[in-house]
Amino acid sequence: MVAVALHASAWGQSPGSSDADSDYTWNAMQGEKLQALAAKGDATRGEISFEICQGCHRKNALGRPDGSYPRLAGQHRSVLIKQMTDVRAGRRRNETMLPFIDRHVVSPQDIADIAVYLSELPVTPDNGKGPGRDLVEAEQLYRFQCVECHGEQGEGDAAQFYPRVNGQHYRYLRREMIAIRDGARGNANPKMVEIIKPLSDTQIAALADYMSRIPLLKPR
Ligand code: HEC
Ligand code: HEC
Repeated sequence: MVAVALHASAWGQSPGSSDADSDYTWNAMQGEKLQALAAKGDATRGEISFEICQGCHRKNALGRPDGSYPRLAGQHRSVLIKQMTDVRAGRRRNETMLPFIDRHVVSPQDIADIAVYLSELPVTPDNGKGPGRDLVEAEQLYRFQCVECHGEQGEGDAAQFYPRVNGQHYRYLRREMIAIRDGARGNANPKMVEIIKPLSDTQIAALADYMSRIPLLKPR
């Protein structure tokens, strides 16, 4: 067991890079993101548009427990719209998904439809979990540094574009945190980047594991 520590820095260091773009504004409200947020989404149309996505994100958007493809079910509409338009604009790199989500394939209205459809899908407790190590330390770290945005129950905050993280696959959460720490997820909230930068691989794995196990107290 690792010693209990509230501060990230006291629980092992790791290098992490820090080449943030200085004149980039996180979540600037512009372009098709505004259009998609303003559009009234239609879940029935969204279900049809989502068919081309199911090969990867699976039926009912539950993703894969091995984390190769994230769950999208039950994610906030605002978060889904931000992430989809960020991928289209290249702010979040995703070469394999881009051909499916490209502007020539789906319109801002389709994005709004898909987001409503996905946000209303139920989240099931059979998501991929981690090995169950260092969970007490991870909970303390989570409550200290993550709860203000991702919430007590991992429910996120739709109004602030903070993702829901409960019910998500462990390996996906871990991979994203490593990408955020190492500067590979270009659209990540800068305050979070600063918080995640000093975390070690062990801390990241434990945090991802903790989040993957938060009970789904708020079923959707
Ligand atoms: C070829 C496989 C593939 C297809 C097809 C695909 N995706 Fe993805 N998608 C991914 C992967 C992989 C990720 C996670 C990227 C990462 O690891 O950063 C992802 C991530 C996402 C995310 C971000 C999730 C989050 O929690 O931030 C959204 C939203 C999304 N996809 C929507 C869609 C939609 C809508 C479609 C169809 C129009 C689609 N995807 C088609 C592979 C795919
Ligand atoms: C200031 C608010 C904030 C804080 C604090 C914060 N996050 Fe985040 N987090 C976000 C936002 C916003 C995103 C979505 C990325 C983006 O578009 O900026 C995100 C994304 C993530 C993701 C990827 C989720 C997905 O579906 O792709 C993980 C995992 C994550 N955060 C973990 C953490 C952990 C662990 C902590 C604490 C050590 C933390 N975050 C602290 C705001 C925050």
